[in-house]
Amino acid sequence: MFYKIAQKVMFQMDPERAHHLAIGSLKMTANSPLTCLYGQTIVPAPVSFMGLTFPNPVGLAAGMDKDGESIDAFHAMGFGHVEVGTVTPRPQPGNDLPRLFRLKPAKAIINRMGFNNKGVDNLVKNLLAKKTNIMVGVNIGKNKDTPVEQGKDDYLICMDKVYPYAAYIAVNISSPNTPGLRSLQYGDLLDELLSAIKTKQLELAEKHKKYVPIALKIAPDLTSEEIENIAQALIKNKFDGAIATNTTLTRDGVSGLANANESGGLSGKPLTELSTKVIKQLAACLKGQIPIIGVGGINSAEDALAKFDAGATMVQIYSGFIYQGPKLIKEIVEAYRLK
Ligand SMILES: Cc1cc2nc3c(=O)[nH]c(=O)nc-3n(C[C@H](O)[C@H](O)[C@H](O)COP(=O)(O)O)c2cc1C
Repeated sequence: MFYKIAQKVMFQMDPERAHHLAIGSLKMTANSPLTCLYGQTIVPAPVSFMGLTFPNPVGLAAGMDKDGESIDAFHAMGFGHVEVGTVTPRPQPGNDLPRLFRLKPAKAIINRMGFNNKGVDNLVKNLLAKKTNIMVGVNIGKNKDTPVEQGKDDYLICMDKVYPYAAYIAVNISSPNTPGLRSLQYGDLLDELLSAIKTKQLELAEKHKKYVPIALKIAPDLTSEEIENIAQALIKNKFDGAIATNTTLTRDGVSGLANANESGGLSGKPLTELSTKVIKQLAACLKGQIPIIGVGGINSAEDALAKFDAGATMVQIYSGFIYQGPKLIKEIVEAYRLK
């Protein structure tokens, strides 16, 4: 009920202003009696993933809380985990405004934010300040002005800094809004990146006496052959997990709608089937050796069940959460428990 009212107000506002207002309000009210406005109790539905146990299989996808400001508020809503980021070594402003668009009739969003974030040191401060013990994944990327050939160094810098504070680390090479980033998904660049990350992970595990699993987040805009190649690279480099998928550059299902021609990544309902198809193909290539988080267009419990059926062990939501609110978390967990 409260979300319906809040949504009505926020949908009258510019999307990015509404986003900052929401994150700011959640930050202010977290761990206070006001969490009763959005908090809910979720019956536990534990799930094992990458050697960790999560209280339920529903997470908040990366990009909503890029700087980890409102983690405790998302915990109150019942998320089984929160993926913060994408964070980069240095703070950066992201692309010019406007860069976030609602396509309400399609329950979709187009964004070209471009990794606006306050940098990895600020994120670490926020991770240290959180009061709840919610599982937090940290999604890492490269700065826009770091050449793609040196992109690897940015991932290693971020890993070094967040490793002690992350439940898992997500390597994002699939955002369409950082020029050249997606080229890291192919050939030698991919293999070199994954191998360097694996070496770093083992070094850090030794140093901190703690093994933090690492997952790769991929795009939905890949051919079957490209998915197969990524799967082989993940297996070869002993990655712990995969996250499929990020936003799409396609515009299927939104043509003719206001904002449909804005550049950037499309998410929400038009992405549902494409993302499920990629998960299915990836799962077939990975043959159970590496588990998958399914994300993309989950707008109902049925959408989430389709992701589990396709081979995902856990799911994440972003656009569906904007359109449905916290009740979507509960609906998915209930459906998962009954399945
Ligand atoms: C406004 C916005 C910002 C996003 N920022 C990031 C990001 O920084 N890093 C990332 O890996 N994914 C980011 N994403 C992608 C989401 O995490 C998710 O993969 C994608 O939106 C598909 O899920 P959905 O259909 O439930 O939204 C962003 C999505 C949106 C809508």
